[in-house]
Amino acid sequence: MTAAVVEEKYHPGLEGVIAGETSVSTVEQSSLAYRGYPIDQLAEHATFEETAYLLLHDTLPTRAELLRFRAEIDQHRTLTPAVLDVIRAMPRETPGMDVLRTAVSMAAHWDKHSGPDLAPGADASLWRAQGTVILAIVPTIIAARLRFLAGQQPIPPRPGLSHAAQFFHMAFGRQPQTLHERILDLTLTLYAEHEFNASTFAVRVCASTTSDIWSAVVAGIGTLKGPLHGGANEEVVRHIFEPLRNGEQARKWTEDALARKQLIMGFGHRVYKHGDHRAKILEPYVEKLAAERNDPGRLEVYRTVRDIVLQKKGLYPNTDYPCGLVYFLMGLPVDIYTPLFVASRVTGWCAHFIEQRLHNRIIRPRSRYIGPAIRSVVPLDQRA
Ligand SMILES: CC(C)(COP(=O)(O)OP(=O)(O)OC[C@H]1O[C@@H](n2cnc3c(N)ncnc32)[C@H](O)[C@@H]1OP(=O)(O)O)[C@@H](O)C(=O)NCCC(=O)NCCS
Repeated sequence: MTAAVVEEKYHPGLEGVIAGETSVSTVEQSSLAYRGYPIDQLAEHATFEETAYLLLHDTLPTRAELLRFRAEIDQHRTLTPAVLDVIRAMPRETPGMDVLRTAVSMAAHWDKHSGPDLAPGADASLWRAQGTVILAIVPTIIAARLRFLAGQQPIPPRPGLSHAAQFFHMAFGRQPQTLHERILDLTLTLYAEHEFNASTFAVRVCASTTSDIWSAVVAGIGTLKGPLHGGANEEVVRHIFEPLRNGEQARKWTEDALARKQLIMGFGHRVYKHGDHRAKILEPYVEKLAAERNDPGRLEVYRTVRDIVLQKKGLYPNTDYPCGLVYFLMGLPVDIYTPLFVASRVTGWCAHFIEQRLHNRIIRPRSRYIGPAIRSVVPLDQRA
């Protein structure tokens, strides 16, 4: 009997591999669209909550549907005291993404939908309800952590605020300026979904085993944390915008970094080779904020690093480069930038979870073996 021959197709990092079908978004060199709507139009004409509804429910909401959705989110914002106790108990130096991963995982135990979600016949409406709970609690977790670190008590959510304004309210006890609310809302819209990126793929792999949505989101958080993925929006600030104050410092730092072949955080992309659509949408807000904060030096740093990396390496900024700077200029603590990315991307993850479960085939690729040839096990007392 001859063994079946498997045709070997090997693409390191799965580059260029079509690993599944999706109707959630399209990512192309020339366009990015969520469920067919171009990202620049969503950025201009829709709020983050409308975008979240689009991803979870497949269509843009009517005014009545949006009101109901916002009320549903508000209904779930409060964390159970046990989860707050765990957030309070975590060591000060625990990274924000680790706090979020643990708190989301723990909150799952109080989800009244858990259990039925794995039963035969579970359907999209149940997973949408769970996705809405997850969407509701992430800003509450991030804000509670900030409050505990400052030695303060969490601030209860105030129903009726936008997702962006609600975060400012719970974290800092104040309403944001209109420009800051607009920018946070915009970054949430831009970060919400991006096809088969690493964290979404991790979510889909988890979903494909018919595991539950909370486990899949926790897998997504762990994957997004890495600096080659979502963690880059914190790294650009730690490496570039915190230490560098003017164009001259930026020029020297960039040339040295490139000479050392150092990775410049916030640049390059697996798919986009001629620029990231989202970074272009955000760039005017870097300029507005730098003017508002009277910080022309940081704007010079932004432009200098961008221009030198493009000229010398042919690499364009990805979303994390302008996003890191706008969060920094708004005075947000660096450790929450990737958690804020999660606050947005949970919508895309949940949309992909639902899609995977509705059209499921377990994701189980093969590997190319490069280890030793078959050999005999020497019993322990005969091993040298
Ligand atoms: C995003 C990223 C992981 C994509 O990786 P990738 O698809 O494997 O990258 P590419 O194949 O396009 O890289 C091509 C070349 O550019 C280099 N390169 C890519 N991004 C670079 C960066 N940010 N700084 C310096 N060099 C970079 C690579 O090292 C490679 O060089 P080589 O040909 O000498 O080996 C990569 O660009 C990166 O690490 N960027 C920094 C982290 C970041 O901003 N992540 C957020 C992504 S949205």
